[in-house]
Amino acid sequence: MTSTPIASKIIPKASRASLDVSQIAFTSDKQKHAVDALVREFDISPQLLQDIKKNFMAGMQKGLKKDGETLAMITSYVVGRLDGSETGSYLALDVGGTNLRVVSVHLAGGGEIITRQTKYRIDEKLKIGEAKALFDFMAVCVDSFLDEHQIAVRGDTQIELGFTFSFPVLQTSINRGTLISWTKGFNAAGMVGKDPVAYLQDAFNRRHIPVRVAALVNDTVGTLLAHAYHNPETVMGVILGTGCNGAYIERIDNIKKWKGDASAKEMIINMEFGAFDKEREILPLTMFDNKMDRKSVNPNKQIFEKMIAGMYLGEITRNVLLNLIDRRLLFEGGISPDINQMWTFETAYMSTIEADASPHLHATRKILESTLSFPATTMNDRQIVKLVVELVGKRAARLSAAAVAGILEHTGAWHQKAAIGIDGSLFEYYPSFDTDIMDGLVEVFGQDIRNNISIGLAQDGSGVGAALCALLAAKHATP
Ligand code: BGC
Repeated sequence: MTSTPIASKIIPKASRASLDVSQIAFTSDKQKHAVDALVREFDISPQLLQDIKKNFMAGMQKGLKKDGETLAMITSYVVGRLDGSETGSYLALDVGGTNLRVVSVHLAGGGEIITRQTKYRIDEKLKIGEAKALFDFMAVCVDSFLDEHQIAVRGDTQIELGFTFSFPVLQTSINRGTLISWTKGFNAAGMVGKDPVAYLQDAFNRRHIPVRVAALVNDTVGTLLAHAYHNPETVMGVILGTGCNGAYIERIDNIKKWKGDASAKEMIINMEFGAFDKEREILPLTMFDNKMDRKSVNPNKQIFEKMIAGMYLGEITRNVLLNLIDRRLLFEGGISPDINQMWTFETAYMSTIEADASPHLHATRKILESTLSFPATTMNDRQIVKLVVELVGKRAARLSAAAVAGILEHTGAWHQKAAIGIDGSLFEYYPSFDTDIMDGLVEVFGQDIRNNISIGLAQDGSGVGAALCALLAAKHATP
C-alpha cells in the first residue's frame, strides 16, 4: 500500500461582488420569471432564519435529554478548559475531509504551537471499500510520517496520538466510541456500530508502529480547543468545510442524559448539527436539493449539512443550471458534456464566480468556457450563473448563522464577551461567508453582537485540537 503526500495550496480570500437581479438584462419574460422564482426559493428571510433557529434550539434540548435524537448532542468526554499554558508533544491524525493529515504538534506553552504536517490524498475507492483497508492506509501514512520526520521512540514507550475522526461517533470514553453513520462521501463497509479507535490501534499494532490512540476527537471539538488555546473566551467550535457541524461548552446539569462523572461542571458537546431537520419540518428544501440528496451516498441523511457544506453546494448549483438549460432559459439550451456529469461543478468555482467583479464577468466566462467547455457564453448567461451561485452560497451562510445563533441563545453567550472558532475551506475561502454569518447574527441579536462575539478562523483545529485533547485526556485520566 502506498501513501502519497500532496502539496497544499493557499488561495487568498476575496469578497462577494454581489449582483442584483435588476442588473440583469433578461432575454424574455419567461427567463425573468424563472430567475425571480429561484430568488424566492433560495431566500432565507429574517423570519425564516428566526424560525429555523427556534426549531434548532428545540432539537438541542431533545438531544441533551436522550440518545438517538436527530441532533445527537454527543458527550465528548472533554472536560476542563485550557489557558494556553499547557505543554507537550503529540501526534495527530486527521481523517474526515478531502485529505488525510498527519501532524506533529509541539505545545510550547504561552499559547505557542509548533506543527509539522503532511497531507495524503484518500483514494475514493478506499472511502467506500473495506473498513480494514481504510484504517490500514491511515496506519501506513502515520508510519511514513514518522520516517519522514525521523520521529523515533526509545524502548517500550509509545507516541500519544489524538485521532480526529470527523464523523458522528457516539463516544463512550475519551478514546472509545461507535460510529453512528458515515457522512461526506465515506461509506466503508462494516464500520457502523464499530469503534474506529479499535480499528486504528489494531492497524498500528499489526505493523508494530509504536503509537497509542489516546483521544478520539471530532474536528469541531478540536477546533474549539485549538481556538481556546489562544483565546480562553472560546465557547464554540464550528466546521464549515467539506461537511459542517458545531461543538460548544455545555453545563453538566443541562446534559440530562449524562450518566457519567457528575463532579465535572461542564463538557464539550459535539452536536452533529449536519443532521438537523431530518424530519423536514422547517428547512426550505428545493427540488435541486432533493435531486442532489437522492444521488448522494447517504440519501435522506445530513439534510442541513447538504444545504451548507462545500461538498454539496456545487452540485446544487449544477442542478439549478441544468434545469434552466433544459427549459432553454440559459446558454440558449446549449450544453457542455462536463456539466452533465454529477459533481463536476466544484464549490471552488463558486468562490471564483462570487468574487468576479470584472465588467464582463471574465472569471466566470473562463470557468464556463475553458473549464466546463460551454460554447461561447453571453453576458446574460454569465450574470444568471453568477446570481444562481450567489443564491446557493448565501443561503448556506444564512443557514449557518441560524445554527450559530441557536447555540449562542441556548448558552446565553450572546450577551457576554465570547469567541467562536471556525475552521474549514468554506469559511476560509468562500467570499463573504463570514460577513453573511455576522449579518445573520445581527438580525437575531442586534448590533451589540458585533462587539460581544468575535468570530475567528481557527486554523488547524483538527491537528492542534487533537493534540490538546490527548493532553487533556492524560490530565483528567482517573488513575
Ligand atoms: C460529520 C461531523 C463533522 C463535520 C465536519 C460531518 O459530516 O458528521 O462529525 O464534524 O462533518 O467535518
